[in-house]
Amino acid sequence: MPTIDVAGTTLHFLDRGEGPVALFVHGFPLDSTMWLDQIERLSDLRRCVAVDLRGFGRSSAVTDEVLTMERHGEDLVALLGALGIESADVVALSMGGYVALYLAQVYPELIRTLALVDTRAAADTSEGRAGRDEAVRRVLGEGRRSFAEGMLMVLVAPNASVTTRARMRSMMEGTRYETMVAALRGMRDRPDRTAILARIGVPTSVVVGELDAVTPPADACTMADVLPDATVTVIEGAGHMTPLEAPDRVATALRRLWARSEPAGIPVSTDA
Ligand code: MLT
Repeated sequence: MPTIDVAGTTLHFLDRGEGPVALFVHGFPLDSTMWLDQIERLSDLRRCVAVDLRGFGRSSAVTDEVLTMERHGEDLVALLGALGIESADVVALSMGGYVALYLAQVYPELIRTLALVDTRAAADTSEGRAGRDEAVRRVLGEGRRSFAEGMLMVLVAPNASVTTRARMRSMMEGTRYETMVAALRGMRDRPDRTAILARIGVPTSVVVGELDAVTPPADACTMADVLPDATVTVIEGAGHMTPLEAPDRVATALRRLWARSEPAGIPVSTDA
């Protein structure tokens, strides 16, 4: 797995496939391996770069009190720059989507197409912010295994497979305590980026699980209503983790999105 030194830390990333670059940005408290099913299905079409965000996965440990979405966004800009990548198809789940919307706000030229998967543009409500502080207390007081078990109930649909649950546990129980705490604070403090949506001129795909309890379909539709060039895919029976719960459906949505950015005349298969 390649690494790169950016802004005082070392980031790990998966780098597979050929073609234009697709940049995959994971959610909380996960890592780049959440995208393995998409990489397997799409590396014939794209060079798939899936990063472990600062502090997550196999990227270096950090001591930041707060890991902001802006910090992660700047890391992605540095990563793309170091790899000589001018623009990418950005695919981002949940917290990754919060980071992608920072990129859309400040570095729109880096985004060729955008997939907003199980995410939202709005900030946390005051209740949500209090919930983040309570989650920090749980991580520190009860440990990450107990926290992960609680989150798992919310993140995946009741019928999610044993394998999906095992992969989720591996990622969550492998995330450092200090990263969890700093990222919870970063999500708590993120601004509302709803106003950015109307300025996103590139083809966009909004994907959401029908049973997503964290960022429900209503949030997806709210975003799609103001995005200038968006399609919405609601995946039946899936929860918040559609890339793991419904890998074929998500890969198909991405193929369709990327076909929208191809010059006319170049056929792109939309088969899963
Ligand atoms: C995620 O999946 O990244 C988180 O659940 C997002 C959040 O807690 O807001």
